[in-house]
Amino acid sequence: MCGIVAGVGIENLESVLLDGLSRLEYRGYDSAGIALNSMEAESVLLVKTPGKVKKLRKKLNSMSTEERGLQFSAGVAHTRWATHGAPTEVNAHPHSDTAGTFFIVHNGIIENYVELKKRLIDEGQKFSSETDSEVLAHLVAECYDGDFLKAVAAALKQVKGTYGVAVLSTKHPDALVVARKGSPIVIGLTANGVLAASDTAALVAHTSEVIYLDDGDIALLSPGNADIRNLDDLPVSREKMKIDWDLSVVEKSGFEHFMLKEIFEQPKALRDTIRGRLDHEQGAAVLSGLNLSPKEMLDANRIIIAACGTSMHAGMVGEYFFEDLADIPTEIEQAAEFRYRNPIISPNTLVIATSQSGETADTLAAVREAARKGASTIGICNVVGSTIAREVDRGIYLHAGPEIGVASTKAFTCQVVALLMTALKLARSRRLTREAGISLVSEIERIPELAAAVLEKNDLIKEVAEKYSEAENFFFIGRGNLYPVALEGALKLKEISYVHAEGYHAAELKHGPIALLEENVPVVALANDVPGKEKILGNIQECAARKSPVVAITTEGDDSVAESADVTIPVPRSSVFTTPVSTAIALQLFAYHFANKRGCEIDQPRNLAKSVTVE
Ligand code: F6R
Repeated sequence: MCGIVAGVGIENLESVLLDGLSRLEYRGYDSAGIALNSMEAESVLLVKTPGKVKKLRKKLNSMSTEERGLQFSAGVAHTRWATHGAPTEVNAHPHSDTAGTFFIVHNGIIENYVELKKRLIDEGQKFSSETDSEVLAHLVAECYDGDFLKAVAAALKQVKGTYGVAVLSTKHPDALVVARKGSPIVIGLTANGVLAASDTAALVAHTSEVIYLDDGDIALLSPGNADIRNLDDLPVSREKMKIDWDLSVVEKSGFEHFMLKEIFEQPKALRDTIRGRLDHEQGAAVLSGLNLSPKEMLDANRIIIAACGTSMHAGMVGEYFFEDLADIPTEIEQAAEFRYRNPIISPNTLVIATSQSGETADTLAAVREAARKGASTIGICNVVGSTIAREVDRGIYLHAGPEIGVASTKAFTCQVVALLMTALKLARSRRLTREAGISLVSEIERIPELAAAVLEKNDLIKEVAEKYSEAENFFFIGRGNLYPVALEGALKLKEISYVHAEGYHAAELKHGPIALLEENVPVVALANDVPGKEKILGNIQECAARKSPVVAITTEGDDSVAESADVTIPVPRSSVFTTPVSTAIALQLFAYHFANKRGCEIDQPRNLAKSVTVE
């Protein structure tokens, strides 16, 4: 959840690290810090601050050249999402040992830090922060006998938990050590120097040649070289990879916010998810990463989808697809619950993990638990090379491009489509006819167009969202596969506008929550013309009778909802399997304009972070 950038032998190191941090700020933004090995002063410049990277930049700029030096050989930088200790200056990373020889930035959790800290204090070390991470700096100092890499490896062997870590040392001004276990570290090779980060977004401006570390890897970085080993000091070989996107994908490109940019990218993102994966002739999906044998597909007798947050809502939509199309009983599991409740798994159970980042701690734990119990695991991830993508037996990448806005948008719709194609693949190997398959393929091919048509309603949706921008409570209701879309609509609204919004099954409303309806509590009803619409019409009337204003998402050309609702937002007619996509996009725009009108900080909502790597 924190962001790490580090570099050695890089020109303009300070600004490269600060720019990298700004690109990672979506991962966490409580506080920021940087440590740079000064070439002139033979000392380390350490600057930290609560708040965002721009505050750190300002603090650095306000220092005189004498105070700070100008030339730096190596540096580590961090943007934090607080877990242990409040977001204060002392708790901000980098942390150092008592003598100020080693400076570390860390992403992850050191689970046994209390006992380690106690021992180190008893041995005379002085701690300055409340963080778990600081123990790492003291441990490295304790293990150091002249070999930088070995000292970090020996320190890491003592910790339980997860880490992506970068370490700087005054004793080795031209080197850095980075390591990973459970939190990503990617190394970027440039013409002269080497960069490392928790995320490729921080590197893309400087290089397209990267190496992803595996869990248990540690690397000594020096100008022009990355020496990768395991914690037992044996060399390991990791493939160099090319990043196939450029700087424009991590910039706002004229949009006011990343969230809006990513909402508008959906026609392209969806096209990229679908591209080359449909067989019109056979009415089937060609998903090469999903290399299940025909027998495995036929024998599958249960699907469990494990995920968190928005990705879980996509999974809930997927549940309808697998049952309706492929005839396979499907359950959706909150990933956080999965491993703790001793799930029953048989050899023919498929466990699907949906995760944009591919790093969510609970989803990863669910994958590991499923694998331990013998299930076949499938990953539906966006981030290439992410931990979940690498640990599952097979998987599908979304190819949606980097998602920077903390509120997930394009990943949700692309996940829904990836799940639909997965269901189609399974369905065609089981009972779905070729004709039905062909018809579904045509519907899926239309999705990017559908998305573009919803985006054309942006002005209308903005007007509606602004009309209700003073409301402090909302309900979102839906039925069938639009029920999870209602949950997602409520989640989008609450996370970026801080307004209370609840998603409910439309029929559940009268089993309690209807008590809350009154004239200043709008209800957003998903009343598209798909099976179940008549029922939701009744539910809309129940809301209207309690004086709640109703905003209905409807189908173009269907006027039957207009007289019961206060406002309608029509989206194009589409099949029951693709309507969740168009409806979700309308709700994303609604949440965006609502929050923007209220002046909220859309891309970095309070308390949140992208990629939740703690339980
Ligand atoms: C909400 C949101 C989160 C994520 C959740 C899982 O907008 O983004 O709810 O969906 O933290 O993240 P991933 O998909 O990376 O596993």
